[in-house]
Amino acid sequence: MAVDKMICPCKKVTRGDVLRAMAKGAEKYKDVQRMTGAGTKCGKCEADIRKLMKKHREEKDKPGKHAPQAQAITLDALVLECPDAAALADFYAALLGWQRGHVEPGEWVDIVSPGGGTKLAFQQNPAYRPPVWPDEPGAPQQQAHLDLAVKDRAAMRQAVELALSLGARLSDTQYGDDKWTTLIDPAGHPFCFVIW
Ligand code: FES
Repeated sequence: MAVDKMICPCKKVTRGDVLRAMAKGAEKYKDVQRMTGAGTKCGKCEADIRKLMKKHREEKDKPGKHAPQAQAITLDALVLECPDAAALADFYAALLGWQRGHVEPGEWVDIVSPGGGTKLAFQQNPAYRPPVWPDEPGAPQQQAHLDLAVKDRAAMRQAVELALSLGARLSDTQYGDDKWTTLIDPAGHPFCFVIW
């Protein structure tokens, strides 16, 4: 682990403290002084602090410093395991108003939003065992779940009714206030509607 080097021994302020102050909005040396106390005793550290701030600003402003990786990788699909890929794909397609995309019969079906974006995919797995929710020791646990947004209570009621009519069931356990409703999809995955 890198050692966080002291930059103002008088006030025991480190380089990391200065950078954190900058991340919280310190733009000038005076701001760093006010937020960390650095430089407020003997003042010998002022030049070093100013140099660090300048270097950090230049690094941050370098064009495309993080861009190549960010642009090269996109989230293509979230994949749910299930015993019947086509059946679960149709459940979520009907629930979300999405359409089937790529299909490999007996193995894979993905669905896509009319607006594009990340797909939901369903991978058929004969050994699939549904998660137990809420968790129980020794039982298969959910590894992820979907939160689906609705705009108000009326939309929540409609969404729950639709999900139930398509084969979901309400979870016996509900957490949170009435902003959330937890259901279990036909393959046993918990998912939530949330007023957002
Ligand atoms: S070294 Fe920073 S105030 Fe003295």
